[in-house]
Amino acid sequence: MRVLFLSASGALGGSERVLLEMMATLRRTAPGWRLGLLAVEPGPLLQEASVLGVETMVEPLPPAFASLGESGRTRARLLAGLAMSTLPLARYRRRLKAALRDWRPDVVHSNALKTHVLAAWSTPAHARLVWHVHDYVSSRPLSRWLLRMHAGRPATIAANSQSVAADVAQVCGRAVSTVYNTVDLDRFTPAGPVADLDQLSGLPDAPRDTVRAGLVATFARWKGHETFLDALAALPDTLPVRGYIVGGPVYQTGRSQYSLAELREAATRRGVSGRVGFVGFLPDTAPAIRALDVVVHASTEPEPFGLVVAEAMACGRAVIVSGAGGALEIVRPGEDAIVCPPGDAAALGRHIQDLARDGARREALGRAARRHARERFSRDRLVGALYELYGLARPAA
Ligand code: GLC
Repeated sequence: MRVLFLSASGALGGSERVLLEMMATLRRTAPGWRLGLLAVEPGPLLQEASVLGVETMVEPLPPAFASLGESGRTRARLLAGLAMSTLPLARYRRRLKAALRDWRPDVVHSNALKTHVLAAWSTPAHARLVWHVHDYVSSRPLSRWLLRMHAGRPATIAANSQSVAADVAQVCGRAVSTVYNTVDLDRFTPAGPVADLDQLSGLPDAPRDTVRAGLVATFARWKGHETFLDALAALPDTLPVRGYIVGGPVYQTGRSQYSLAELREAATRRGVSGRVGFVGFLPDTAPAIRALDVVVHASTEPEPFGLVVAEAMACGRAVIVSGAGGALEIVRPGEDAIVCPPGDAAALGRHIQDLARDGARREALGRAARRHARERFSRDRLVGALYELYGLARPAA
Protein backbone atom coordinates (compact mmCIF):
# COMPACT_ATOMS: atom_id res chain seq x y z
CA MET A 1 0.00 0.00 0.00
CA ARG A 2 1.34 3.46 -0.94
CA VAL A 3 -0.20 6.46 0.83
CA LEU A 4 0.73 9.98 -0.16
CA PHE A 5 -0.26 12.76 2.27
CA LEU A 6 -0.66 16.32 0.97
CA SER A 7 -0.12 19.35 3.20
CA ALA A 8 -0.64 23.04 2.38
CA SER A 9 1.82 24.03 5.08
CA GLY A 10 5.27 22.99 6.25
CA ALA A 11 4.62 24.56 9.67
CA LEU A 12 3.41 22.77 12.77
CA GLY A 13 -0.13 23.94 13.42
CA GLY A 14 -2.90 21.64 14.66
CA SER A 15 -3.77 19.94 11.38
CA GLU A 16 -0.11 19.25 10.59
CA ARG A 17 0.41 17.71 14.03
CA VAL A 18 -2.58 15.48 13.36
CA LEU A 19 -0.92 14.48 10.09
CA LEU A 20 2.14 13.37 12.08
CA GLU A 21 -0.14 11.43 14.41
CA MET A 22 -1.61 9.53 11.46
CA MET A 23 1.82 8.84 9.99
CA ALA A 24 3.19 7.60 13.31
CA THR A 25 0.16 5.35 13.78
CA LEU A 26 0.49 3.81 10.31
CA ARG A 27 4.24 3.38 10.72
CA ARG A 28 3.57 1.24 13.78
CA THR A 29 0.54 -0.73 12.61
CA ALA A 30 1.36 -1.10 8.91
CA PRO A 31 5.17 -1.07 8.78
CA GLY A 32 5.19 -2.49 5.26
CA TRP A 33 3.31 0.47 3.76
CA ARG A 34 5.15 3.17 1.87
CA LEU A 35 4.26 6.64 3.21
CA GLY A 36 4.98 9.91 1.45
CA LEU A 37 4.36 13.56 2.25
CA LEU A 38 4.13 16.23 -0.39
CA ALA A 39 3.99 19.74 1.06
CA VAL A 40 3.73 23.02 -0.77
CA GLU A 41 6.46 24.63 1.33
CA PRO A 42 9.40 23.41 3.39
CA GLY A 43 9.28 23.54 7.20
CA PRO A 44 9.52 21.59 10.44
CA LEU A 45 6.62 19.29 9.46
CA LEU A 46 8.84 17.70 6.82
CA GLN A 47 11.71 17.13 9.22
CA GLU A 48 9.43 15.46 11.72
CA ALA A 49 7.86 13.33 8.99
CA SER A 50 11.24 12.13 7.77
CA VAL A 51 12.18 11.15 11.30
CA LEU A 52 9.13 8.84 11.12
CA GLY A 53 10.51 7.30 7.92
CA VAL A 54 8.14 9.14 5.58
CA GLU A 55 9.47 10.21 2.16
CA THR A 56 9.09 13.99 1.92
CA MET A 57 8.78 16.20 -1.15
CA VAL A 58 8.18 19.92 -1.64
CA GLU A 59 6.38 21.46 -4.61
CA PRO A 60 6.38 25.21 -3.80
CA LEU A 61 3.07 26.90 -4.59
CA PRO A 62 2.99 30.02 -6.76
CA PRO A 63 3.42 32.90 -4.24
CA ALA A 64 0.13 34.65 -5.14
CA PHE A 65 -1.84 31.47 -4.36
CA ALA A 66 0.25 30.59 -1.30
CA SER A 67 -0.56 33.88 0.44
CA LEU A 68 -4.24 33.78 -0.50
CA GLY A 69 -6.09 33.76 2.80
CA GLU A 70 -9.80 34.35 3.12
CA SER A 71 -10.08 36.15 6.41
CA GLY A 72 -10.87 39.85 6.19
CA ARG A 73 -10.81 39.95 2.38
CA THR A 74 -13.60 41.15 0.18
CA ARG A 75 -14.93 38.95 -2.58
CA ALA A 76 -13.39 41.30 -5.17
CA ARG A 77 -9.92 41.02 -3.61
CA LEU A 78 -10.23 37.24 -3.40
CA LEU A 79 -11.21 36.99 -7.04
CA ALA A 80 -8.36 39.35 -7.98
CA GLY A 81 -5.94 37.14 -6.01
CA LEU A 82 -7.27 34.04 -7.71
CA ALA A 83 -7.06 35.68 -11.13
CA MET A 84 -3.41 36.59 -10.51
CA SER A 85 -2.72 32.95 -9.68
CA THR A 86 -4.40 31.48 -12.77
CA LEU A 87 -1.42 31.11 -15.09
CA PRO A 88 1.14 30.03 -12.49
CA LEU A 89 -1.49 27.63 -11.11
CA ALA A 90 -1.96 25.99 -14.48
CA ARG A 91 1.79 25.35 -14.63
CA TYR A 92 1.75 24.16 -11.04
CA ARG A 93 -1.05 21.75 -11.78
CA ARG A 94 1.05 20.10 -14.51
CA ARG A 95 4.05 19.77 -12.18
CA LEU A 96 1.94 18.32 -9.37
CA LYS A 97 0.23 15.90 -11.69
CA ALA A 98 3.62 14.60 -12.83
CA ALA A 99 4.88 14.33 -9.23
CA LEU A 100 1.80 12.36 -8.17
CA ARG A 101 1.96 10.08 -11.20
CA ASP A 102 5.66 9.35 -10.55
CA TRP A 103 5.07 8.48 -6.89
CA ARG A 104 2.30 6.00 -7.87
CA PRO A 105 0.06 6.35 -4.77
CA ASP A 106 -2.80 3.95 -4.04
CA VAL A 107 -4.27 6.60 -1.73
CA VAL A 108 -3.86 10.38 -1.78
CA HIS A 109 -4.76 11.74 1.66
CA SER A 110 -5.24 15.49 1.42
CA ASN A 111 -5.10 17.38 4.72
CA ALA A 112 -5.89 21.02 3.89
CA LEU A 113 -8.41 23.09 1.96
CA LYS A 114 -5.94 24.23 -0.69
CA THR A 115 -4.59 20.73 -1.28
CA HIS A 116 -8.14 19.34 -1.56
CA VAL A 117 -8.58 21.32 -4.75
CA LEU A 118 -5.06 20.69 -6.02
CA ALA A 119 -5.52 16.97 -5.35
CA ALA A 120 -8.86 16.89 -7.17
CA TRP A 121 -7.03 18.22 -10.24
CA SER A 122 -3.94 16.06 -10.00
CA THR A 123 -4.68 12.69 -8.41
CA PRO A 124 -4.21 9.85 -10.92
CA ALA A 125 -7.54 8.25 -11.91
CA HIS A 126 -6.77 4.87 -10.31
CA ALA A 127 -5.80 6.34 -6.90
CA ARG A 128 -8.28 6.78 -4.08
CA LEU A 129 -8.56 10.43 -3.01
CA VAL A 130 -9.42 11.22 0.62
CA TRP A 131 -10.27 14.73 1.75
CA HIS A 132 -9.60 15.21 5.44
CA VAL A 133 -11.19 18.49 6.49
CA HIS A 134 -10.00 20.26 9.65
CA ASP A 135 -11.87 23.58 9.43
CA TYR A 136 -15.36 24.91 8.80
CA VAL A 137 -15.85 25.78 5.16
CA SER A 138 -19.30 27.35 4.91
CA SER A 139 -17.99 30.65 6.32
CA ARG A 140 -15.14 30.83 3.76
CA PRO A 141 -16.43 32.17 0.45
CA LEU A 142 -13.64 30.89 -1.78
CA SER A 143 -13.15 27.46 -0.18
CA ARG A 144 -16.89 26.89 -0.07
CA TRP A 145 -17.18 27.52 -3.79
CA LEU A 146 -14.07 25.54 -4.76
CA LEU A 147 -14.85 22.52 -2.56
CA ARG A 148 -18.42 22.32 -3.78
CA MET A 149 -17.17 22.42 -7.37
CA HIS A 150 -14.77 19.51 -6.82
CA ALA A 151 -16.74 17.50 -4.25
CA GLY A 152 -17.47 14.68 -6.71
CA ARG A 153 -13.81 13.66 -7.01
CA PRO A 154 -12.81 12.33 -3.55
CA ALA A 155 -13.78 8.74 -2.81
CA THR A 156 -14.42 9.75 0.76
CA ILE A 157 -14.52 12.90 2.88
CA ALA A 158 -13.75 12.98 6.60
CA ALA A 159 -13.83 15.76 9.17
CA ASN A 160 -12.28 16.17 12.63
CA SER A 161 -15.62 16.52 14.47
CA GLN A 162 -19.30 15.98 13.87
CA SER A 163 -19.77 19.70 13.86
CA VAL A 164 -17.29 20.19 10.97
CA ALA A 165 -18.68 17.09 9.23
CA ALA A 166 -22.17 18.62 9.20
CA ASP A 167 -20.82 21.90 7.83
CA VAL A 168 -18.82 20.19 5.06
CA ALA A 169 -21.68 17.83 4.19
CA GLN A 170 -23.95 20.79 3.65
CA VAL A 171 -21.40 22.55 1.42
CA CYS A 172 -20.43 19.45 -0.57
CA GLY A 173 -23.89 17.90 -0.78
CA ARG A 174 -22.68 14.45 0.27
CA ALA A 175 -21.98 12.36 3.36
CA VAL A 176 -18.93 13.21 5.48
CA SER A 177 -17.59 10.91 8.19
CA THR A 178 -16.02 11.96 11.48
CA VAL A 179 -12.51 10.92 12.46
CA TYR A 180 -11.62 12.38 15.84
CA ASN A 181 -8.01 13.42 16.30
CA THR A 182 -5.67 11.48 18.52
CA VAL A 183 -2.88 12.50 20.86
CA ASP A 184 0.40 10.80 21.65
CA LEU A 185 -0.54 9.66 25.16
CA ASP A 186 3.08 8.76 25.92
CA ARG A 187 4.31 12.28 25.21
CA PHE A 188 1.35 14.27 26.52
CA THR A 189 1.49 12.93 30.06
CA PRO A 190 0.93 14.50 33.49
CA ALA A 191 4.55 13.75 34.50
CA GLY A 192 7.61 14.65 32.44
CA PRO A 193 9.87 17.58 31.60
CA VAL A 194 8.43 20.97 32.53
CA ALA A 195 9.32 24.16 30.64
CA ASP A 196 10.49 27.28 32.47
CA LEU A 197 7.89 29.62 31.04
CA ASP A 198 9.22 32.67 32.90
CA GLN A 199 12.66 32.23 31.44
CA LEU A 200 11.31 31.51 27.96
CA SER A 201 9.26 34.70 28.05
CA GLY A 202 11.96 36.85 29.65
CA LEU A 203 9.99 37.56 32.83
CA PRO A 204 11.47 37.57 36.34
CA ASP A 205 10.82 34.32 38.23
CA ALA A 206 7.26 34.27 39.57
CA PRO A 207 6.75 33.84 43.33
CA ARG A 208 6.29 30.23 44.44
CA ASP A 209 2.54 30.35 44.97
CA THR A 210 1.86 31.71 41.48
CA VAL A 211 -0.88 29.98 39.50
CA ARG A 212 0.02 29.80 35.82
CA ALA A 213 -2.77 30.16 33.26
CA GLY A 214 -1.93 29.94 29.57
CA LEU A 215 -3.32 30.03 26.08
CA VAL A 216 -1.54 27.66 23.69
CA ALA A 217 -2.45 28.41 20.07
CA THR A 218 -1.36 29.74 16.71
CA PHE A 219 -1.79 33.51 16.40
CA ALA A 220 -4.99 33.20 14.31
CA ARG A 221 -7.21 36.14 15.23
CA TRP A 222 -10.12 33.92 16.25
CA LYS A 223 -8.13 32.01 18.87
CA GLY A 224 -9.21 34.57 21.50
CA HIS A 225 -5.92 36.12 22.60
CA GLU A 226 -7.60 39.43 23.32
CA THR A 227 -10.38 37.74 25.28
CA PHE A 228 -7.68 36.06 27.37
CA LEU A 229 -5.88 39.39 27.91
CA ASP A 230 -9.20 41.03 28.90
CA ALA A 231 -9.82 38.21 31.38
CA LEU A 232 -6.35 38.69 32.90
CA ALA A 233 -6.97 42.43 33.16
CA ALA A 234 -10.18 41.73 35.11
CA LEU A 235 -8.38 39.70 37.82
CA PRO A 236 -7.74 41.34 41.18
CA ASP A 237 -4.13 42.62 41.37
CA THR A 238 -3.60 40.66 44.56
CA LEU A 239 -4.47 37.28 43.03
CA PRO A 240 -1.20 35.46 42.30
CA VAL A 241 -1.95 34.52 38.67
CA ARG A 242 0.43 34.89 35.76
CA GLY A 243 -0.76 34.48 32.19
CA TYR A 244 1.24 32.99 29.32
CA ILE A 245 0.74 33.06 25.58
CA VAL A 246 2.41 30.08 23.94
CA GLY A 247 2.65 30.02 20.14
CA GLY A 248 3.35 32.24 17.19
CA PRO A 249 2.11 33.32 13.78
CA VAL A 250 2.93 29.98 12.13
CA TYR A 251 0.90 30.27 8.93
CA GLN A 252 1.55 32.66 6.05
CA THR A 253 -1.97 33.51 4.98
CA GLY A 254 -2.43 37.27 4.64
CA ARG A 255 -3.66 39.12 7.71
CA SER A 256 -5.35 36.20 9.41
CA GLN A 257 -2.82 36.13 12.28
CA TYR A 258 -1.67 38.58 14.93
CA SER A 259 1.96 39.59 14.97
CA LEU A 260 3.81 39.31 18.26
CA ALA A 261 4.16 43.13 18.35
CA GLU A 262 0.38 43.52 18.04
CA LEU A 263 -0.28 41.17 20.95
CA ARG A 264 2.38 42.80 23.13
CA GLU A 265 0.79 46.15 22.40
CA ALA A 266 -2.66 44.70 23.24
CA ALA A 267 -1.28 43.55 26.61
CA THR A 268 0.28 46.95 27.31
CA ARG A 269 -2.97 48.75 26.43
CA ARG A 270 -4.76 46.68 29.05
CA GLY A 271 -2.07 47.26 31.66
CA VAL A 272 -1.20 43.56 31.97
CA SER A 273 2.22 43.45 30.29
CA GLY A 274 3.88 42.65 33.64
CA ARG A 275 1.44 39.80 34.20
CA VAL A 276 1.66 37.98 30.90
CA GLY A 277 4.59 36.17 29.35
CA PHE A 278 5.02 35.64 25.60
CA VAL A 279 6.67 32.26 25.37
CA GLY A 280 6.88 32.05 21.55
CA PHE A 281 6.42 29.05 19.28
CA LEU A 282 7.58 25.70 20.67
CA PRO A 283 7.83 22.63 18.43
CA ASP A 284 7.08 20.43 21.46
CA THR A 285 4.32 21.93 23.59
CA ALA A 286 4.03 19.13 26.17
CA PRO A 287 6.59 20.63 28.63
CA ALA A 288 4.86 24.04 28.36
CA ILE A 289 1.41 22.54 28.93
CA ARG A 290 2.73 20.70 32.00
CA ALA A 291 4.06 24.02 33.35
CA LEU A 292 0.53 25.46 33.36
CA ASP A 293 -1.95 25.01 36.20
CA VAL A 294 -4.83 26.11 34.00
CA VAL A 295 -4.91 25.75 30.21
CA VAL A 296 -7.19 28.31 28.62
CA HIS A 297 -8.88 27.76 25.29
CA ALA A 298 -10.62 31.00 24.30
CA SER A 299 -11.56 30.77 20.62
CA THR A 300 -14.11 33.40 19.71
CA GLU A 301 -15.49 31.32 16.82
CA PRO A 302 -16.59 27.67 16.95
CA GLU A 303 -13.45 25.52 17.29
CA PRO A 304 -13.42 22.71 14.72
CA PHE A 305 -11.79 20.27 17.15
CA GLY A 306 -9.26 21.94 19.47
CA LEU A 307 -6.18 19.74 19.52
CA VAL A 308 -4.68 21.72 22.39
CA VAL A 309 -7.72 20.92 24.52
CA ALA A 310 -7.12 17.20 23.93
CA GLU A 311 -3.38 17.56 24.61
CA ALA A 312 -3.96 19.53 27.80
CA MET A 313 -6.45 16.90 28.99
CA ALA A 314 -3.91 14.17 28.26
CA CYS A 315 -1.42 16.10 30.39
CA GLY A 316 -3.98 16.07 33.22
CA ARG A 317 -4.39 19.85 33.34
CA ALA A 318 -7.44 21.83 34.38
CA VAL A 319 -8.83 23.18 31.11
CA ILE A 320 -11.24 26.01 30.39
CA VAL A 321 -12.88 25.48 27.00
CA SER A 322 -14.68 27.97 24.84
CA GLY A 323 -18.06 26.33 24.36
CA ALA A 324 -18.77 26.13 20.64
CA GLY A 325 -18.17 23.74 17.76
CA GLY A 326 -16.25 20.48 17.82
CA ALA A 327 -14.43 21.39 21.05
CA LEU A 328 -17.73 20.77 22.85
CA GLU A 329 -17.79 17.18 21.56
CA ILE A 330 -14.54 16.26 23.29
CA VAL A 331 -15.21 17.40 26.85
CA ARG A 332 -17.71 16.58 29.57
CA PRO A 333 -18.56 20.02 30.93
CA GLY A 334 -17.92 20.41 34.64
CA GLU A 335 -16.43 16.94 34.90
CA ASP A 336 -13.22 17.05 32.88
CA ALA A 337 -13.24 20.70 31.75
CA ILE A 338 -14.90 24.03 32.51
CA VAL A 339 -16.91 25.43 29.63
CA CYS A 340 -17.08 29.19 29.05
CA PRO A 341 -19.16 31.16 26.50
CA PRO A 342 -16.97 32.21 23.53
CA GLY A 343 -15.73 35.80 23.75
CA ASP A 344 -17.03 36.33 27.30
CA ALA A 345 -13.94 37.75 28.98
CA ALA A 346 -15.73 38.49 32.26
CA ALA A 347 -16.85 34.85 32.60
CA LEU A 348 -13.39 33.63 31.61
CA GLY A 349 -11.86 35.88 34.26
CA ARG A 350 -14.22 34.45 36.87
CA HIS A 351 -13.35 30.85 35.91
CA ILE A 352 -9.61 31.58 36.05
CA GLN A 353 -10.10 33.20 39.43
CA ASP A 354 -12.13 30.29 40.82
CA LEU A 355 -9.59 27.73 39.64
CA ALA A 356 -6.67 29.83 40.89
CA ARG A 357 -8.21 29.73 44.37
CA ASP A 358 -9.06 26.03 44.36
CA GLY A 359 -6.14 23.66 43.87
CA ALA A 360 -8.27 20.61 44.77
CA ARG A 361 -10.74 21.41 41.99
CA ARG A 362 -7.90 21.82 39.50
CA GLU A 363 -6.57 18.43 40.48
CA ALA A 364 -9.94 16.71 40.23
CA LEU A 365 -10.55 18.18 36.77
CA GLY A 366 -7.05 17.18 35.67
CA ARG A 367 -7.46 13.59 36.87
CA ALA A 368 -10.79 13.17 35.08
CA ALA A 369 -9.32 14.80 31.98
CA ARG A 370 -6.39 12.38 31.78
CA ARG A 371 -8.71 9.41 32.28
CA HIS A 372 -11.07 10.54 29.55
CA ALA A 373 -8.21 11.45 27.22
CA ARG A 374 -6.97 7.85 27.40
CA GLU A 375 -10.39 6.60 26.40
CA ARG A 376 -11.05 9.14 23.68
CA PHE A 377 -7.80 10.21 22.05
CA SER A 378 -5.79 7.00 21.89
CA ARG A 379 -4.06 6.18 18.60
CA ASP A 380 -5.63 2.71 18.69
CA ARG A 381 -8.91 4.29 17.64
CA LEU A 382 -7.29 5.83 14.60
CA VAL A 383 -6.17 2.60 12.95
CA GLY A 384 -9.65 1.34 12.07
CA ALA A 385 -10.76 4.81 11.01
CA LEU A 386 -7.85 5.17 8.57
CA TYR A 387 -8.40 1.72 7.06
CA GLU A 388 -12.01 2.65 6.50
CA LEU A 389 -11.06 5.91 4.80
CA TYR A 390 -8.70 3.98 2.54
CA GLY A 391 -11.41 1.49 1.58
CA LEU A 392 -9.71 -1.45 3.36
CA ALA A 393 -11.06 -4.01 5.78
CA ARG A 394 -10.13 -3.17 9.36
CA PRO A 395 -7.05 -5.08 10.50
CA ALA A 396 -7.59 -7.78 13.14
CA ALA A 397 -7.06 -6.34 16.63
C1 GLC B 1 -7.46 22.90 12.65
C2 GLC B 1 -8.63 23.31 13.55
C3 GLC B 1 -8.42 22.84 14.98
C4 GLC B 1 -8.06 21.37 15.02
C5 GLC B 1 -6.91 21.06 14.08
C6 GLC B 1 -6.64 19.58 13.98
O1 GLC B 1 -6.33 23.61 12.99
O2 GLC B 1 -8.82 24.72 13.49
O3 GLC B 1 -9.59 23.03 15.74
O4 GLC B 1 -7.73 20.97 16.31
O5 GLC B 1 -7.20 21.51 12.77
O6 GLC B 1 -7.74 18.88 13.48
